[in-house]
Amino acid sequence: MNATVTVVDHPLVQHKLTVMRDRDCSTKGFRQLLNEIGMLLAYEVTRDLPLEPVSIETPVARMEAQRIQGKKLVLAPILRAGVGFLDGMLSLVPSARVAHVGIYRDPETLEAVEYYFKAPSDLADRTVLVLDPMLATANSAVSAIGQLKKRGARDLRFVCLLAAPEGIARLQSAHPDVPIWTAAIDSHLNDHGYIVPGLGDAGDRMYGTR
Ligand code: PRP
Ligand code: URA
Repeated sequence: MNATVTVVDHPLVQHKLTVMRDRDCSTKGFRQLLNEIGMLLAYEVTRDLPLEPVSIETPVARMEAQRIQGKKLVLAPILRAGVGFLDGMLSLVPSARVAHVGIYRDPETLEAVEYYFKAPSDLADRTVLVLDPMLATANSAVSAIGQLKKRGARDLRFVCLLAAPEGIARLQSAHPDVPIWTAAIDSHLNDHGYIVPGLGDAGDRMYGTR
């Protein structure tokens, strides 16, 4: 069975996404909004993390309180654009570890080209959130998740801003155990593998390149 797809339809997320999609949104605005949406998505994607009881003493009494079970999360941004989510997410989960996965999409073949990988060594013991604003063909996501699994990761979640139906189908078929969170599912991919209506090239818009 395929893993779930959760569309985060919170009004703040939808409003910020609309501002980002506009071609006239500045580089500064785009970066800021991606950061803010990262924070809101982190809230949603961590909603069901298991808790465990812990005994603490407040200034008034001893109590059984709840804390998140297990080791710290790993945030795994796919370079470059995935880094846009990082600061916002780290502001909510400041102790998270970070894995960097360097991949770019060959503009002709749309195949993923891997160029960098650095992650904590104990991936098998941690929940890994794979971050990339764009899920288009899913070649990048499939490759990143494959690399993380090869290094031991077993509990992964994929978080994006925009997904194409083609990308969701591909990711579900390649990694049926990895649930997806997205702020929107757009119409389709165009002949160049861009999400329609989308927002253009996320990395270029975030860094002011091109
Ligand atoms: C973009 C985006 C994703 C990828 C999505 O990266 O940030 O990583 O394309 O497309 P896919 O689902 O078809 O693989 P890009 O290759 O432009 O690299 P960049 O982030 O370094 O600009
Ligand atoms: N990568 C992007 O940045 N944008 C798209 O629409 C597709 C892939």
